[in-house]
Amino acid sequence: MLGLDTVVHVEDLTVAYGEKPVLWDVDLHIPKGRMTAIVGPNGAGKSTLMKAILGVIDRTSGYVEIFGEEVDQVKGKIAYVPQSGSVDWDFPTTVLDVVMMGTYGKLGLFKKPGKRERDLALSALKKVRMEDFVNRQISQLSGGQQQRVFLARALVQEADIYFLDEPLKGVDLRTEHTIMEILNGLRDEGKNVLVVHHDLKTVPTYFDDVVLLNVRVYYEGPVEEVFTNENIRETFGTGKEEVYV
Ligand SMILES: Nc1ncnc2c1ncn2[C@@H]1O[C@H](COP(=O)(O)OP(=O)(O)OP(=O)(O)O)[C@@H](O)[C@H]1O
Ligand SMILES: [Mg+2]
Repeated sequence: MLGLDTVVHVEDLTVAYGEKPVLWDVDLHIPKGRMTAIVGPNGAGKSTLMKAILGVIDRTSGYVEIFGEEVDQVKGKIAYVPQSGSVDWDFPTTVLDVVMMGTYGKLGLFKKPGKRERDLALSALKKVRMEDFVNRQISQLSGGQQQRVFLARALVQEADIYFLDEPLKGVDLRTEHTIMEILNGLRDEGKNVLVVHHDLKTVPTYFDDVVLLNVRVYYEGPVEEVFTNENIRETFGTGKEEVYV
């Protein structure tokens, strides 16, 4: 039974690209208004989990609800920033255009973006400190700058839940802090933020809850309860030393 405070509910989710499942019988109950990290080794299925929850890829079996509804019913409330490098941005679009595209979902089919959308996009670009790059081609940005533009694009969607796949990967410390400040702000507004995160050391500072994933969910819950050395070691398997102390 789905609790009222559960925003993402996943049951018995299995995903296989070929014969071997990369996610096996995953159950998740993400509570409302929390900042949640999804953590696990490379190839654990973190990106696959996000994509399968959002219906970007097919589930082999299992059931997903967001805000108590089928994902298709709540698409307008969801923002998703894929893992960088997984999207080919090598076509001629400016930074401003990419961010404006984020507003299209709210516009309806035949309405053209106008001043309001432009202002929203500019203010989001300012938040991520990319206001000096509005007319730059997206392909002519560094990886970290692209990350910030994609975050701005997610922000203008005015979603209720944000799925971000490694938003801090390859960005400098200042950008990392900017991004975390923005995500904290969203959480404090009552929005939900799910982040695939690779830096185990910063999990306790940045997140309320954590999901330890390696094909299946090993542990899920408040960081102070489940993010222990023992649980991390169990999830990452042998060969991983004291990754978090
Ligand atoms: N399109 C695909 N076709 C076949 N196999 C895939 C595909 N995408 C991912 N995989 C495999 O599924 C497994 C999980 O991949 P996924 O990208 O979800 O891992 P991840 O936890 O996000 O890893 P990383 O930390 O490297 O981003 C890996 O073994 C990967 O090789
Ligand atoms: Mg990934």
